[in-house]
Amino acid sequence: MLDKPEAVQRQWTVGRQRIVLADCLTGLADLPAASVDVCVTSPPYNIGVAYSTYRDRMPRQAYLDWLREVGRAIHRVLKDEGSFFLNAGSIGSDPWLATDAARAMGEAFVLQNHIVWAKSLSIGDDTVGHFKPINSQRFLNHNHEAIFHFTKTGGVAIDRLAVGVPFKDKSNIARWGHARDRRCAGNVWFIPYRTVKSRAQKFDHPAGFPLELPLRCIRLHGVERPSVLDPFLGAGTTLAAAETLGAEGVGFEIDPAYAERAVARLTGLGPPLPHAQSSE
Ligand SMILES: C[S@@+](CC[C@H](N)C(=O)[O-])C[C@H]1O[C@@H](n2cnc3c(N)ncnc32)[C@H](O)[C@@H]1O
Repeated sequence: MLDKPEAVQRQWTVGRQRIVLADCLTGLADLPAASVDVCVTSPPYNIGVAYSTYRDRMPRQAYLDWLREVGRAIHRVLKDEGSFFLNAGSIGSDPWLATDAARAMGEAFVLQNHIVWAKSLSIGDDTVGHFKPINSQRFLNHNHEAIFHFTKTGGVAIDRLAVGVPFKDKSNIARWGHARDRRCAGNVWFIPYRTVKSRAQKFDHPAGFPLELPLRCIRLHGVERPSVLDPFLGAGTTLAAAETLGAEGVGFEIDPAYAERAVARLTGLGPPLPHAQSSE
């Protein structure tokens, strides 16, 4: 927690994205009700991650109460047919963490899909993807996290084929009357981190998710050029995905250093963007 969350301190518009330096509860309160198609976010996990200013340790109940409040604020701004994708992870000593966080933040929603984000897979002797190894006599390395797909009703139509895969056996296309060579890829998403050689390549943020994660969530929601939200923007990955897909987005970040990194990252996204302006 920061000592003194302040109101909106600064905001930037880069391309179709608005980056707001603010506490997300303040920022969310300023958004019109039912204005967001897709929210993709990953809150702080309350495990002591070394963010630049945010202190990632609260008493458990205070943390969950806070997430519940943010979840309610997301519910207010989400359209009735909107999707809220919550990325949450656990640690060996706290295996219920992601579930508890999702129960709190998703309290006002229906859980429509539960997706496993696999960061690394071993098949036989071959391993693909990165994860942070832990030194433990008790716990396995953690190489997956969860993506909880919440909606207001549990009945929101999604575009499964937008994140689908080609049929392995092409004879299935005609046999089952499919219009194209695409089938649902299921609810385990293998999204490895890129191999990076420096912190700068991770946008100097200790807890970013890969670009592919919000790209898939936004595509799965299936609305063309949706309005996108990330209340815990970090280094701006969700808005980078929104920009890539030609969608409009808004993100809130409480830490000036990360908000500025998000701005720099979005400004650096090609093709050239129409404008990058800042206002106090
Ligand atoms: C897990 S990180 C998000 C990383 C992001 N998904 C990315 O790919 O870069 C959580 C972020 O939430 C920010 N944060 C913490 N409390 C906040 C609050 N009350 N309002 C807005 N942002 C907050 C932290 O500074 C941190 O950057």
